Amino acid sequence: MAVRLKRHISQKFDNEIRFIKGMLNGPKTVGAIAPTSIYTARRMASVIDLTSDLPVLELGPGTGVITKAILERGVAPEKLVAIEYSADFHSRLVEDFPGVKFIHGDAFDLTRTLAPLGDIKFQTVVSGIPLLNFPMAMRIKLLEDLLDRLPVGRPVIQFSYGPVSPIAPKPESYHIQHFDFMIRNIPPAQLWIYRRG
Ligand SMILES: C[S@@+](CC[C@H](N)C(=O)[O-])C[C@H]1O[C@@H](n2cnc3c(N)ncnc32)[C@H](O)[C@@H]1O
Repeated sequence: MAVRLKRHISQKFDNEIRFIKGMLNGPKTVGAIAPTSIYTARRMASVIDLTSDLPVLELGPGTGVITKAILERGVAPEKLVAIEYSADFHSRLVEDFPGVKFIHGDAFDLTRTLAPLGDIKFQTVVSGIPLLNFPMAMRIKLLEDLLDRLPVGRPVIQFSYGPVSPIAPKPESYHIQHFDFMIRNIPPAQLWIYRRG
């Protein structure tokens, strides 16, 4: 019991140190002061449809907090594709989560990044990309590219530290839903869902 607790604590600090290092190396791409809390990660994973045969797409897994929550929700590792921009985070994720299809690449360039997987569709997108660090036109284009790869009605869930949706409304293309406010997160975060139909 004491050994398991010690291992848990040391892994948690290891994740936080790696996150801070990532933040110092690329503040704009990491865009947060701490990894997402387990409560937020689980809440995001809760929108996954466990009856679907389609894979889940995660963007910006970082140290893998949300990846872990997605797998714990019951998604098989081979049914999870995750795109990470940082080479350091990517190589560690590959070690920590065997079986998950991690792609080292840019989520804003999905055509190129997902090319090795062919014409793939997903059932849900779970995104940790720090959208507020990118221009609005890039955010909208990313969302529309993601929705093109989902069945109508399926969600893109995104967290954000701002008070309003990080993606501007475009009712002719998608709907926005405020999903939750996560007080148990540093800093507190808003969860947003985007979908078509
Ligand atoms: C705010 S951190 C979130 C990390 C983790 N998902 C969490 O919740 O703790 C943002 C993550 O997105 C990654 N990222 C930033 N821009 C990206 C891009 N264009 N493509 C893929 N990943 C990106 C960063 O490297 C970092 O891992």
